[in-house]
Amino acid sequence: MTKTILVTGGAGFIGSHTAVELLLRDYRVVIADDLSNSSAKAIEVIKTLGSADVSFHEVDLTDEALVAQLFDEHPIEAVVHFAGLKAVGESVEKPMHYYRTNLTSTMNLLSQMAQHDVWDFVFSSSATVYGTPEQLPIPESAPTGATNPYGRTKLMIEEICQDLAAADDRWRISLLRYFNPVGAHASGQLGEDPRGIPNNLVPFVMQVAVGRREKLQVFGGDWDTPDGSGVRDYIHVVDLAAGHLAALEKLRAGCEAYNLGTGNGSSVLEIIGTAERVSGKTIPYDVVDRRSGDIATSLADPTKANRELGWRADRNLEAMLTDAWRWQSMNPMGFAEN
Ligand code: UFG
Repeated sequence: MTKTILVTGGAGFIGSHTAVELLLRDYRVVIADDLSNSSAKAIEVIKTLGSADVSFHEVDLTDEALVAQLFDEHPIEAVVHFAGLKAVGESVEKPMHYYRTNLTSTMNLLSQMAQHDVWDFVFSSSATVYGTPEQLPIPESAPTGATNPYGRTKLMIEEICQDLAAADDRWRISLLRYFNPVGAHASGQLGEDPRGIPNNLVPFVMQVAVGRREKLQVFGGDWDTPDGSGVRDYIHVVDLAAGHLAALEKLRAGCEAYNLGTGNGSSVLEIIGTAERVSGKTIPYDVVDRRSGDIATSLADPTKANRELGWRADRNLEAMLTDAWRWQSMNPMGFAEN
């Protein structure tokens, strides 16, 4: 029988791409999203690209009664939990907002799951749990330690999951530590649509390329990297979505963390060069001071996910930026214009 999966944050960037892949694999999908940082238009696109219906609930998961209702109304068998606040800088300014939102919603979910006899949980974690890495590429066994409230919510939730799994062996939990998700659906209909000024590099680069912003700031030209700009492990969002399906299908008793990355690093200057090539646009930039809290290099060791989940990210940087550009050029203002 087809399984019903609850996808929280399913209207967002990674959640929407994962929902499409779930539908294409014949899962039934229930989406819960408060639309605080996403658009209801994404739901319509998910249905089109996934050639199936989804049940959409606009809910705030910090209200436990509303979470309970989702489980009462649908035969949910597993939860993929993306919903959460995710801006590092904002989390430093509003720590209580981050702790209350990210922790309360997750605890409501986990407690309602147990009450409804649902034990399969895939959590949207982040490479941010490695803090300033001592070893590159970073294996899952590396020490953890977040450097800001956002990162600490991810780490605290990971620890809560580990404690639950230790206390009750019915739990089957995967903690997916994403590196730098970029790109868009190949159709050009689904992509990243940040509100306000983008915090992340690729959306900013794309908004410069499409003419929405004048110039990019490159945060630091004196890092200890081959060209002096920061190096990250960028991963195509559709590869990342496939990683969630693999994790869901390979869940086993306990709580396991997996790095989802490619294992390849790209610098900010390489991103700019590749984006200029695929878009045919010039991307003006200034090299400015380092951004506080940044690190020189972040790079995944994805061996564990390759081996245990049978999953590998195979789209290269050119594919990531080609798809990001298709989305941005077809929808210069994101979902606002569609
Ligand atoms: N960068 C710029 N200019 C910009 C934006 C970013 O030069 O306008 C640089 C950064 O300094 C960094 C690289 O581009 O070297 C990537 O920056 P992003 O903001 O896109 O990504 P981060 O690696 O800083 O952040 C990501 C996630 C966070 C997570 C963090 C650590 O977006 O959620 O990784 O894991 F906390």
